[in-house]
Formats: sequence, structure tokens, C-alpha cells
Amino acid sequence: MISNQIEKNLSKSSLIRKMFEEGSRLKSIYGEDNVFDFSLGNPSLQPPDEILDSMVKHAVEKDAHKYMLNAGYVDVREKVAEHHNKSSNVVLSSNNIIMTVGAAGGLNVALKALLDPGDEVIVLSPYFVDYLFYIKNYDGVPIIVNTQKDTFQLDLDNIKSALTDQTKAIILNSPNNPTGVIYPEKALKELAAILKDRKNPVAVISDEPYNQLNYDLEVPNLLNIFDNVIIVNSFSKSLSLPGGRIGYLVISPNMESADLVAAACVFATRTLGFVNAPSLYQRAVADALDLPSNKEHYRKRRDALLKIVRGAGFECIEPDGAFYLFAKCPIADDVEFASAAAKHNILLVPGSGFGCPGYFRLAYCGDIQNILNSKDAFYELAKEYGL
Ligand SMILES: Cc1ncc(COP(=O)(O)O)c(C=O)c1O
Repeated sequence: MISNQIEKNLSKSSLIRKMFEEGSRLKSIYGEDNVFDFSLGNPSLQPPDEILDSMVKHAVEKDAHKYMLNAGYVDVREKVAEHHNKSSNVVLSSNNIIMTVGAAGGLNVALKALLDPGDEVIVLSPYFVDYLFYIKNYDGVPIIVNTQKDTFQLDLDNIKSALTDQTKAIILNSPNNPTGVIYPEKALKELAAILKDRKNPVAVISDEPYNQLNYDLEVPNLLNIFDNVIIVNSFSKSLSLPGGRIGYLVISPNMESADLVAAACVFATRTLGFVNAPSLYQRAVADALDLPSNKEHYRKRRDALLKIVRGAGFECIEPDGAFYLFAKCPIADDVEFASAAAKHNILLVPGSGFGCPGYFRLAYCGDIQNILNSKDAFYELAKEYGL
């Protein structure tokens, strides 16, 4: 009955989801506290009280639950534009903002608005695997380009060689899932110079759900670096609202035919069936745009986990942001390594799930005591491989 394409994808099944299922099984046997679940990027932190209070306040307002413009409430979009204007050299208005159903919804809207069948989209490896499905949703072709070995920074020569007349877009994600890397301004400016030379314009789709989770480095503002840029943002991580499904797109006014791109994104929001982003969450996040970020909460977890993982003998770079640690497997087969880790009640995601075999990802957005308690398990796992 179902589509052959979906059937193929189902049979591959996500490695992250597989670990999630294994986690539920182990927790039912050993108890929550005795399983070290680093599989999912699902924040354990509660959303701030301001968000919850704001939702209660707005829920009883007249017209709070009616249809609205497909792009979202104008006053909410004005607030988002003003928020970005504080740090941008470009001047945004509500017309440049489209409220979305999380970053995932925003990515789908942007890709539907831009892609014709056969258009190529550059995806940097390691990558958030759903990018590949999103691109294929619109008959686009993902072109996988490796980042630099070990540092996972932009490899500009690789990107240059991957550009063709069919290249329509490149997806950037900084701070990055799964590596935690932040791309510095210098490399981004060099990329901008490369893209500026192209006969056919290439859009930068900047997926930024982690842009407030930076520890020591600044996250460069891409609106100040690229003209053809769409920023994709969400509050799933910064305000712990992944189930709320709320985010937005910023379409740079300097983008080629920016007004048409915005109109195409509005059309895509409607015809993908989103119709509009959730009304109450739009109101709530508009009230919370200036709340301090929760990065210190995650910094503590990063520091604790990094100390344990490196102390046990695993090799990894220090994450600059997001809440993921990407470490080298002591054996080539990262799926086998994940099974070995599960025997020590450690749940991790093999790098193959991000197009980067030989590595593993740990999501450190859970309970700090659970992270600290994982030390013995990591040391025993490392010992098994002679580290
Ligand atoms: C890199 C990246 N992009 C997009 C998303 C989707 O975010 P949202 O829940 O806001 O749709 C995630 C979620 O984990 C992510 O890691």
C-alpha cells in the first residue's frame, strides 16, 4: 500500500531512533538512573516560566485561536525583525520574517520555495540526517561534501569543487549537530566570496537552532556576511520547546528577488499543510526574545562529559556550542562500538547516522548527575578497547 520510496527509507530506520528504543528497553530493566542515555537531543530543562505564563495569558485573549496570515502574526514578526536588527547591518521588517513549525518546518518551507527537480543542495558531512530527506521531498539532489578531517571546519576547496550549474543552495549548521563546531567569520567570508562569483545564485540556508548555545566563541551573523541567505531558527533548544514546534525564517532583504522568495515561502507554508505556525507559541516566544540563553546550563554538562570521555582515553574536539560531543571510535565499525557501549548501559549514536563512520555522538542535554555517574561505565568501555 505505501510508497516504495518510503518503504525503502523505513527499512533503513534512523540510528538515533534505534538507540532511543534500546534506551527504553534498558531503562525498563535497570531503571532510569542506571542507564546513561546520550542518544537524543531532547533538552531535560523545563521551558522558562515566562513562556508558560505568557501562554496562559494569551490563551484567553479574543481571537487567540483563529486562522491568521500564513506567515504568522504581523506584530510577532515585527518583534522578531527588531530583535535581529540589533545585531545586523541589514534592516529587516515583518515582511522578511515567516513564522514556522520549528526549524524542521522552516527548512522544508525554504527548500520547497527554492528547489526545482534536479537542483543540487550541498550538505556538509557530518550532517543532521534529515536534511537528506527534506531535500528529496522536493526532488532535489543532496551533494555531500566533507568538512576538514578531525576539526570538522569548512573545507572551502571541497565546497568549491562541488559547485555546479545545478547548485541551488548550501545548508550550513553552526553551532553544529553533531560536532559542536562553530564556523568562524573568516572562513564564512571566504565562502561568501566563492559564492559571489557564481553565474547562478546559490542560496545559503543557515540552520541555526543552536545559535544561542555558544560557549566561548561568537556565532557570526550570517546576514552580515552573505546576501543570498535564509536563516532558519527555532526555540526547540534555546527555550526547551521542541514539542511546541515553533521557529521562524529570516529572508535577507539583500537576497536576489527577496520579496518573491518570501512570497514563495508563504505559499509553501500553506501548501505543505502547516497553514501557519502554532498561534500560542508565536505569542509566547515573541514575549521571550530577550530572555538570557541557557548556555551556562549546558556548559556545565559539556565540561563534565568532556573530562570523563577524554579521561577515559577517547579522542574528541572540545565542542564550541550546541550540546553534542563527537568523539573518535577506537574501532572502525561504529555500529558495533555502539552495541558494545550499550552493554555498559551507555547509549550513543554511531557517526554513520551523520554520514561520518568511525565516530560517535553523545548528546549532553540530560541530567548532570547522570552524566557524572557515567564515569565508571566510560572507563570500563575504554578498557575493553585497550585505551
Ligand atoms: C541541526 C538541526 N536542525 C534542525 C533540527 C530540528 O529542529 P526543530 O525541532 O526546531 O524542528 C534539529 C533537531 O534536533 C537539529 O539538530
